[in-house]
Amino acid sequence: MDLVVGQERAAEIREQSRDWLSVDLGPRQLCDLELLINGAYSPLDGYLGAADHRSVCSEMRLADGTFWPVPVVLNIPDELADSLASGDSVALRDGEGVMIAALNVDECFQRDLDAEVAAIFGTADKSHPGVAQFLHRTRRWAVAGRVEALQLPVHFDYPELRRTPADLRRLFSSLGWRKVLTFQTHRTIHRAQHAMMEEAARDSGANVLIHPVVGLDQPGDADHYTRIRCYEAVLPEFPESMVCLNLLPLAMRGGGGREALLHAIVNKNYGATHLMVDFDGTGAVLDTIGAPAYQQEEALQIISDHASDLGVEMVTTREMVYLEDRKQFLASTDVPPDGHVLRLTSDEVRQRLDDGREIPGWYTFEEVSRELEHRHPARREQGFTVFLSGLSGSGKSTIANVLRVKLLELGGRGVTLLDGDLVRANLSSELGFSKEHRDLNIRRIGFVASEITRAGGVAICAPIAPYDVVRREVREMVRPCGGFVLVHVATPLEVCEARDRKGMYAKARAGIIKEFTGISDPYEVPEDADVVIDTSDLAPVAAANEILLFLARKGYISAPDVD
Ligand code: PPS
Repeated sequence: MDLVVGQERAAEIREQSRDWLSVDLGPRQLCDLELLINGAYSPLDGYLGAADHRSVCSEMRLADGTFWPVPVVLNIPDELADSLASGDSVALRDGEGVMIAALNVDECFQRDLDAEVAAIFGTADKSHPGVAQFLHRTRRWAVAGRVEALQLPVHFDYPELRRTPADLRRLFSSLGWRKVLTFQTHRTIHRAQHAMMEEAARDSGANVLIHPVVGLDQPGDADHYTRIRCYEAVLPEFPESMVCLNLLPLAMRGGGGREALLHAIVNKNYGATHLMVDFDGTGAVLDTIGAPAYQQEEALQIISDHASDLGVEMVTTREMVYLEDRKQFLASTDVPPDGHVLRLTSDEVRQRLDDGREIPGWYTFEEVSRELEHRHPARREQGFTVFLSGLSGSGKSTIANVLRVKLLELGGRGVTLLDGDLVRANLSSELGFSKEHRDLNIRRIGFVASEITRAGGVAICAPIAPYDVVRREVREMVRPCGGFVLVHVATPLEVCEARDRKGMYAKARAGIIKEFTGISDPYEVPEDADVVIDTSDLAPVAAANEILLFLARKGYISAPDVD
């Protein structure tokens, strides 16, 4: 499929679209649209409708029987669903308002989110991070229909590496590559993965497509610029003309086997004949779905169960370990009993970077090390966010102020205080205290904090932040930029109410202030707090010191003077 229309039709669409409603797509939705337009989701030519959605969830097939593992659906706000009818058209726009495509509406329908969650994640358990995030970002209403594209979504980065499926298949054919083995990854390639790819390519007599996922950066991943510089640095390490690097604009859903199946179809459309799959998370398809280890075998099983539907061959790779005496990588199953093996997990590599210790030369290539060290300075040089959450009157602001002063005394980083009241006055003055407004308020704080953290500064945030999901969202926003410390200021309600510095609890009890946290509105106690402080019997300096000690233990600052 190539859903980009010819010039004449494009001019017609542009002309007609002046009267159409628009959907502004988020980054994740733009990834789906790009894969629809460029044919990576072939045979789909648009978004699924109710019958297809039901059938994909229950049978992994479209209503016409075609194998399709994961719903590709376009969320829309309720108001828009009310205004659209079959036969209408909608303009699909990117974040800048550029019209990317027309959607010819077949129907709007309410999707069965429970069935979809169970299908994608294999569980409806909200403690699964994928499930919680999916439910949080997904609306019930969807619009279905055929897509006619004016252009592919715009990317200014690495245009030469963003080949479409048709481009890649043409390239493979011109190079005479008949077997293509995909290594789809969201991680950096080190010597072990390099050795694994070489071995798999030799064994299956195939060339290799290195296909990094660059739709949305995953929490904890190096950003895609760093990753791509690393991939480019590794290319010359392969035998000449053995590999090809291409970027895959896919946003992972965090699901299990079904997502692996979707990736298999996508890669097949990009021209792959073989998929590299491994058990231990050192790379390949399973690596990209972010599935925990216990789901990986299930994912492998599901891929082999559907091998005939997929029409691509699976190559199961073996874990590669470094044999010190031979100075060589070997499959762990081939290591002689007396062989001295070296291993480093990705967590250990991250720890080394955090501590400012070097990554050993046997583990990775020099240029890759340099890139990673540059991208990921030691913690003592990283920015961080301290996020204090707790009831009104719990002592958040006082602790935040002391902490700010102590960090300024230590020096080395700029410190910004994003206190609840300050933010409400300057960033969120139009917002009230409904759940929706509180979440928006916290997201704004998270956004500012992540930018401050990225720039190497310290952000101290002190809102009530009563809701768990959005607090976790903020952690996910900040973590790729530097440190994140959630402090639960757990002073009990009775103590806060007895203090009642602003007289608000009295008003809340009298019903004068509505939706007051702790009285007439919920506070979800954080279960993921890094530090818990109860100020009932703790002076502000001692409370701030608890946080400083935690920061020192984690390596962000040197140990505070305790007087
Ligand atoms: S939230 O929930 O995180 O968006 O709240 P936040 O921005 O921190 O604002 C909390 C401060 O606003 C005052 N206030 C209320 N708090 C809770 N519920 C209701 N309905 C409410 N109305 C006004 C209150 O003084 C909070 O100040 P702090 O500094 O926490 O005492």
